[in-house]
Amino acid sequence: MNILQTFLLAVALCLPAAALQARTLEAVRKDGTLLIATEGQYAPFNYFQGQQLTGFEVEVAELVARKMGLKPQWKTLGFDALLTGLQQDRWDVVIASHAITDERARAVSFAAPHYCSGGTIVSLSPSLRSARDLAGKVVAVQTGTTYAAEVGRLPGVKAVKNFPGDADARNALASRRVDAMVTDRFVAKELLRKSPQAGFHVGDRVTTERIAAAVARGNTGLADAWSQALREALADGSYAQLSQKYFQEDVRCP
Ligand code: ARG
Repeated sequence: MNILQTFLLAVALCLPAAALQARTLEAVRKDGTLLIATEGQYAPFNYFQGQQLTGFEVEVAELVARKMGLKPQWKTLGFDALLTGLQQDRWDVVIASHAITDERARAVSFAAPHYCSGGTIVSLSPSLRSARDLAGKVVAVQTGTTYAAEVGRLPGVKAVKNFPGDADARNALASRRVDAMVTDRFVAKELLRKSPQAGFHVGDRVTTERIAAAVARGNTGLADAWSQALREALADGSYAQLSQKYFQEDVRCP
C-alpha cells in the first residue's frame, strides 16, 4: 500500500464515526435545512392528505423551523424506527407524538412539549369505558407506544396485542379481533368524526402525556433552539391558530 492508499484507508475508517455525530445547531444552520422525521400515519397529528404530508404536528414543526430560519425537509417511516434513527444521526429531529418518558429520555433529548394529551380507550361497546372494564379483555396498541407499556401494566388485562400502525390496531378492533384499543384521545376523536358509522365508542382517558419533539441525546443546542422557537409560536398566536384549526381548542400544555 502506498502512502495515498494508506491515507484513504485511514479516512474511510474514520468516516462511520464522523457520520455518527449528531448535527449541531451550527451545522444545521450552515446547511439551512432541518431534517425532520415523522410517521405520517397518525391523523390529525401527522398524516398524508393524498401525497401531501400534513397534520397539526407537521404544521407546528414547519412553523418552528421557519422561526429558526430553517427549511424543513421531511422523512416518513414506521413509528418504531423514528427514535433509533436519531441515535444513528439519520435525521435531526423527530416529531411523532412521542410522550416524554424517563425511558425515552435515556436514549434521546426532548424539546419543550408542543401539546398535552393522553391515551384513551376505544371499543365497539358503550359499556367498555374505564381501565377496570379492560379486565379480561384483549387490547390493541401500536408497537413502541407508551400505550403498549401502560396497558400491559393495567391489572387483569387478558392480552395486549401489538400492531405496527395505529390504523392496524383500529382495523383489528373494527373486525372484532380485539375487544378494545388504546390511542391518543384526539386521534380517537378524529376517528369518530371520520367514520361515524363504524360504531366506535370512546371511553375514559387512561394516561396523561406531555408530547414533545426529540433530538439525538445530548444535542441540547438544537433542542433549545427548537424550544425557543416553539415558545415564540406559543406567545405570538401562531400556535393557537393551528390548534384551533385542528382541534377547535388549545392543546398546549398547561
Ligand atoms: N403518544 C404515544 C406515545 O408516546 C403514541 C404516539 C404514536 N405516534 C405515532 N406517530 N403513531 O408513544
